[in-house]
Amino acid sequence: MLAIECALRRRAVRFHSLDSALSFRYHRMVYRIYGTGKRHLRMALFSKDLGIDLGTMFTRLADATQVLVQQPTIVAIEADEQKMVAVGQEALDMYGRVPESIEVARPLKNGVIADYEITETLLAYLIRQVSGSMRLIRPRSMVSVPYSVTSVERRAVYEAILEAGSREAHLIQQPLAAALGIDLPIGSPSGNMVICLGGGCTEAAVMAMYGIVSAETLRSGGLDFDDAIINYVRRKYGVSIGQATAEQLKTRIGAAVPQDIENSMEVQGQDQVTGLPRPVTLTTGEIVEALQDPLKSVVETGRRVLEKTPPELVADIIDRGVALCGGGALLRGIDKLLTKSLGIPAYLVDSPLTCVVEGTVKALPMYNILRRSLPQV
Ligand SMILES: Nc1ncnc2c1ncn2[C@@H]1O[C@H](COP(=O)(O)OP(=O)(O)OP(=O)(O)O)[C@@H](O)[C@H]1O
Ligand SMILES: [Mg+2]
Repeated sequence: MLAIECALRRRAVRFHSLDSALSFRYHRMVYRIYGTGKRHLRMALFSKDLGIDLGTMFTRLADATQVLVQQPTIVAIEADEQKMVAVGQEALDMYGRVPESIEVARPLKNGVIADYEITETLLAYLIRQVSGSMRLIRPRSMVSVPYSVTSVERRAVYEAILEAGSREAHLIQQPLAAALGIDLPIGSPSGNMVICLGGGCTEAAVMAMYGIVSAETLRSGGLDFDDAIINYVRRKYGVSIGQATAEQLKTRIGAAVPQDIENSMEVQGQDQVTGLPRPVTLTTGEIVEALQDPLKSVVETGRRVLEKTPPELVADIIDRGVALCGGGALLRGIDKLLTKSLGIPAYLVDSPLTCVVEGTVKALPMYNILRRSLPQV
């Protein structure tokens, strides 16, 4: 015990700051309460750097070693008392199944905060969850935002992160974070291209020398793919289906290009004329047809970014390919579609869902190198 205390004291002295002093008090308190078990040692040395991917569909938090939490960005609130009833997956399970007294809301729209209070409550809950009840040491956070975020939207994210319990907050553009997360050599004077296909926005960016050379944000994403499926089923069959059902069709049998093996899936909808339940069976080919318009917008976004990119960098991208990340990158055949339409090989990265949050936490120790490229508040 004495040896550990001495080690912590040495650690605190090394940093010479109030924060370190607080950190030392925090560690000592943890030891008093929990003793010296290995698990608690890890908890006591809880990393002070937190990466946050605040997404339209999912919020993910990571420290330097792992993704700590991944929850749907959704909250259920008691409407009268404005009291939080459920957060994340639990709230998502309530979506469309609650009485009027409970409101289930997504506080982000197209990658940016639409409801500040709810976002802050959600972030505070998640930050508390990963730092436990010991909150004397508040984390330093790096949070991802869309490339084309406005100054007002930037400010909202910055304030929400601080209010939610961070001692310091920095912002990073989502494609830059993704590139760091997948270890692209963005520090070199050569071109690297990423397309992030999120739930609320789609971003294409070319990066070199730790900065963004050209980029564009399309304020539509996976949710708009779901809407396209809803509209298709309504038009073709006169049946209404919900967003969750449309998403299931997309993820289970959907594709961006026609597939050799056609799958089909039966879903329950509501007949638009009679109002009664009616099942419909859809095939992969029909989903491909339904998704044509939103897919065209994704391709156009990538094309516009390439048009704005200097030819030398385009040559590098032709050699290296375009990295696809975000949940939408999991749509079957989207790599083939983009490869064909852009004339550049597109490939799915290893961790399409978590590379952004992994990149945000990697960016913190690189803050001085990245600073000039990061959005300022
Ligand atoms: N297999 C799949 N096929 C097609 N789409 C998928 C698949 N898996 C997940 N998705 C879609 O990915 C989206 C979620 O992706 P992601 O978690 O990257 O979004 P986000 O980061 O929350 O959103 P944003 O970055 O736009 O704010 C959802 O729209 C979901 O339907
Ligand atoms: Mg995202």
